[in-house]
Formats: sequence, structure tokens, C-alpha cells
Amino acid sequence: MAETVFIPLETVGGEGRVAGSPESVKKLQALGFEVVVQAGAGTLSRIPDGEFEKAGARIGSAADAASADVVLKVRRPTSSEIASYKSGAVVLAIMDPYGNEQALDEMARAGISAFAMELMPRITRAQSMDVLSSQANLAGYQAVIDAAYEFDRAMPMMMTAAGTVPAAKVFVMGAGVAGLQAIATARRLGAVVSATDVRPASKEQVASLGAKFIAVEDEEFKAAETSGGYAKEMSAEYKAKQAALTAEHIAKQDIVITTALIPGRPAPRLITREMLKSMKPGSVAVDLAVERGGNVEGAVADQVVDIEGVKVVGYLNVPGRIAASASALYAKNLFTFLETMVSKETKALALDVEDELVKATMLTHGGAVVHPNFAPAPAAVTATA
Ligand code: NAI
Repeated sequence: MAETVFIPLETVGGEGRVAGSPESVKKLQALGFEVVVQAGAGTLSRIPDGEFEKAGARIGSAADAASADVVLKVRRPTSSEIASYKSGAVVLAIMDPYGNEQALDEMARAGISAFAMELMPRITRAQSMDVLSSQANLAGYQAVIDAAYEFDRAMPMMMTAAGTVPAAKVFVMGAGVAGLQAIATARRLGAVVSATDVRPASKEQVASLGAKFIAVEDEEFKAAETSGGYAKEMSAEYKAKQAALTAEHIAKQDIVITTALIPGRPAPRLITREMLKSMKPGSVAVDLAVERGGNVEGAVADQVVDIEGVKVVGYLNVPGRIAASASALYAKNLFTFLETMVSKETKALALDVEDELVKATMLTHGGAVVHPNFAPAPAAVTATA
């Protein structure tokens, strides 16, 4: 009998994304799976049940989780969802594992093999499985759309018979995946764009998008990129120089979009209340790092607040604000990863625990937390044995 993939309706408040699309459902069947989609799972991503049905899925209910061999999710399952899965089920989701060790224990005890999609290594082979990139790219786009919505002026320069509207000045802080898309989107809307980052590699990327690169380019800057391509935490001295440069630049900007993150650390504080105060009334600051403590002083999670006359936008789950596009890309990321776990000969799940993608992402397996970042130290295991 064919193995079953279950795609549930997300239960965490406000999550509009779904872990499947009509396209991924077709591909899952071609791999040999039967697919069950919970009724209404795609509604907020504008995929009616009928579309999933047309693609060959059966429309089911939450109870179908119990017989699923694979569960594809957006968010980490809740306790009651975990309890509804069968032992041995493979569960793929954005697991947000750090600080949620209790949930990992629950998944381990339930005997499920849980995979954290956000831990996918950034290697060529896994590019099409990289949920951080697929979702951050859309978040960068949406940040500009949210900024434009809050901004009481036009973005492009407009020369009309009644006079000229100047182009908005947009400053993007952090030129990773989200930041680069924010630059491109703001440029398309006609803004005059500048950007900053601490990684030297970003300088050329920013310039190639037609934005001006602004940064403290000292010796520390030249060494700020880790071998993994991420930023390091900068020294207090660098931060002071960066703050002085930012303070001077920001006073002339209309919109600031911040996307700066350092893996495993709180987001760096880049914009102070004083800096906001120096901006023109009606300026907008969109903080994409609010989930990790925020780049902007005073940003409030999931709110637009007025600070010193500047609208500070702190939406959580920005990819979820553009759910229909985000779901389509996320579904493709999940499918591509799951495909690597299926044997071509038997068309059945054949988990290879030695595979580097599995090693990097598998949190729990065989009743235990197995990921090196979360598993108890060997000594502790001996002590409790
Ligand atoms: P991220 O989300 O961890 O950080 C966003 C940006 O903030 C980064 O560019 C970082 O350098 C910057 N930042 C950190 N501290 C800062 C500070 N104090 N001031 C200003 N900027 C600061 O990074 P993201 O977007 O995930 O990408 C980081 C790197 O990963 C890039 O080099 C990118 O090219 C690479 N990448 C590689 C992929 C692959 O498949 N090989 C896929 C996606 C990204």
C-alpha cells in the first residue's frame, strides 16, 4: 500500500501559509505517495479544496494525521498535533527549535522523525530546499510594500503639471536575502536606494542592484563574514563607528528597512530613538528582525507604532502576509527535500541518517532528540542510563 502524506490546516494563530500546493501534490503522487489535505488548509493561501482535489489529493480532516507516514507543515506541531501523529511519522516544518527544547522532547517521546527545514545547509545541492531564502526573499519584498502603504507620500519621482513629487529615499540595513530583495523592490517603485551591511561581499551585490553602498569599511569589516557566509557580531568599537555613520545618513531618509541578523544571537540594535527623531515626520521604519529582538529601538512585535513621528512597523511572520506566494515556494522546498528521502526503486521512504541534509536538519528520531545542537551531552546520557 502506498505511503501517505498529510498536509494539515495550520493551527497557530494567523498562519496563512500551507505546506502544499496543487503542483507539489501532483509531484508527491508521482513519487508514489497518496496525499491527504485537510479541508480548508489552503484557504488563506487562495488554494480552494477543489484545486487540491483536482491535483489528485483526498480532502480529509485533522483525524487523518493519525495514519500519515509523512506530515508536511509550516509551523512546529503543537502538543495535541504531536499526540495525533503515529510513531515513526516523518514531520517536516519550520521547527523554530532554539529555546523550544520541551517541544523537541515531546516529539522525541512521540517517536516521530522531526526535521527543521530552517537548518538546511546552504550548499548548492540544497538551494531549492532553502526555506530561509525562499521566505526571506518574499519578506524583503513585502517589507517595501508595507512601507509604501504606511508612507503618506509617493515612492517614485513624478513630474506633473502641478509640480514635482520627489522620489522617496529608502535605506536598507542588512543586505542578505531579504535586504537584496527589498533593494530591488524599492528600486522598481522608483525610490532612491542606499544600503549597508557588515559583510564585504554584499558591497558588489548592492551596487549591482543600482543602490548606493554605505558602510564603515575598516579592517574589521574586511573580516566580518564567516566561512558559512553569515555576519559575525561586531566589536563595540565598530558598532560605535557604524552608529555615527547611520545617524548622519538616516536623517536624510524617508524609509528605513532593517533586516540585520546574526545566526544564534539577538539581532543587532542599529537604529536608536534619537535616530528616529532626526527623521522627517511621516517617515517609516520597517523592522524585519523584530522576532529576534529587533534592529529598531522601540519596535513592537506585530504592531505599527509611532515613535518620534516615525511609523515603526514590526510585523511578525512577514512571509505569512504574502501567503499565496510564500506557500507555493515553501511547498516546493518541502517536496524537493522529501524527494531525497524516497527510494527510487521501492518508491518508499528510505531515510538515510548518514546523509548530510538529514544530519543537518533531523531533530528527533527513534524516540530521542538526535540533533547535535539539542541532544543531551553523552555524559548526561550515561548518567541517566
Ligand atoms: P541573515 O538573515 O542571517 O542576515 C541578514 C543580513 O544582515 C546579512 O547580510 C548580514 O550580513 C547582515 N548583518 C548582520 N549584522 C549586521 C550589522 N550589524 N549591520 C548591518 N548588517 C548586518 O542572512 P541571509 O539573508 O540569510 O544571508 C546571509 C548569507 O548567506 C549571504 O552571504 C547569502 O549570499 C548567503 N546565502 C547562501 C545561500 C546558498 O544557498 N548558498 C542561500 C541564501 C543565502
